[in-house]
Amino acid sequence: MADRLVSPLQGDEDGQETSLRPRRLDDYIGQERVKENLRILLEAARLRDEALDHVLLYGPPGLGKTSLSLIIANEMGAEIRMTSGPAIEHAGDLASILTALEDGDVLFIDEIHRLITVVGATTRIGALAAPLRDRFGAIYRLNYYDESALQHIVRRSARILHVEIDDAGRDEIARRARGTPRIANRLLRRVRDYAQVRANGVITLAVAEAALNALEVDKRGLDQTDRTLLEAIIRKFDGGPVGVETLAASISEEVETIEDVLEPYLLQLGFLARTPRGRVATRLAYEHLGMPFRPSPGMPGLWEEPPEPEA
Ligand SMILES: Nc1ncnc2c1ncn2[C@@H]1O[C@H](COP(=O)(O)OP(=O)(O)O)[C@@H](O)[C@H]1O
Ligand SMILES: [Mg+2]
Repeated sequence: MADRLVSPLQGDEDGQETSLRPRRLDDYIGQERVKENLRILLEAARLRDEALDHVLLYGPPGLGKTSLSLIIANEMGAEIRMTSGPAIEHAGDLASILTALEDGDVLFIDEIHRLITVVGATTRIGALAAPLRDRFGAIYRLNYYDESALQHIVRRSARILHVEIDDAGRDEIARRARGTPRIANRLLRRVRDYAQVRANGVITLAVAEAALNALEVDKRGLDQTDRTLLEAIIRKFDGGPVGVETLAASISEEVETIEDVLEPYLLQLGFLARTPRGRVATRLAYEHLGMPFRPSPGMPGLWEEPPEPEA
């Protein structure tokens, strides 16, 4: 799954990501509400000459959580020590990390909030235990980026990578990037390859379209895996509702992959709906796939029940 060109997860070919990472809050494009709140938090901490409150960032992969944590440290003029949950599963590992932060001093865990700032990031806020979540004074949710923010990101990345690109070419890449900066950057690199081999190196609309079509990333950024999922709901389950386990088995995917990787963007597009009785393909999905819309027998009354709250 991580091999999909449109996977939001970091892959091998994202190795150049560091060069594209924004360093300052001003370079961080979009997420205006988060940035505004963060600016106030940072400024207040600086005025009081205090450590920043703990910050928890959550949202789908590739939307800029790691980038934002680096920016937070940068803006506070602080060093950042990065680790991950799996890496500190053992209490001893955490202790050694804290020790390193304080040059050999041992800290009580209860004192952490006074001495250092913890920035946590997660794609699954619902999986965080409440007592842990409650330790974070500031909790920000990152959302999918709108097209204009993505256009901005593609233009910035093209400049850094010295890629020649016109506005229409840039917009086409932004449109197919699934609201995700990481994917935008990856598509840009692939289209650049295509432009160099098949065209004169310049990314125009025609070049971007040809390259992305060849890569089987469609007009809305869907790939074959997404289309297989939607078509399964429509063809095998009359448009739904179908339980996620049944759906997973029918397309030979893991339930987790469907929930964490495939669904979020399809829900965002409004191609898929999650209901208490299972997943439903919407009219928009039929239209996108060029299939005649047939509300399934399971549809009437479906919307009377409240939709599942978003995790
Ligand atoms: N707001 C943004 N502005 C510009 N580039 C961004 C932004 N957010 C993410 N990116 C780009 O996308 C890449 C992936 O972001 P990252 O912070 O690693 O995402 P996450 O940690 O949420 O998975 C970064 O290397 C960066 O180049
Ligand atoms: Mg990250």
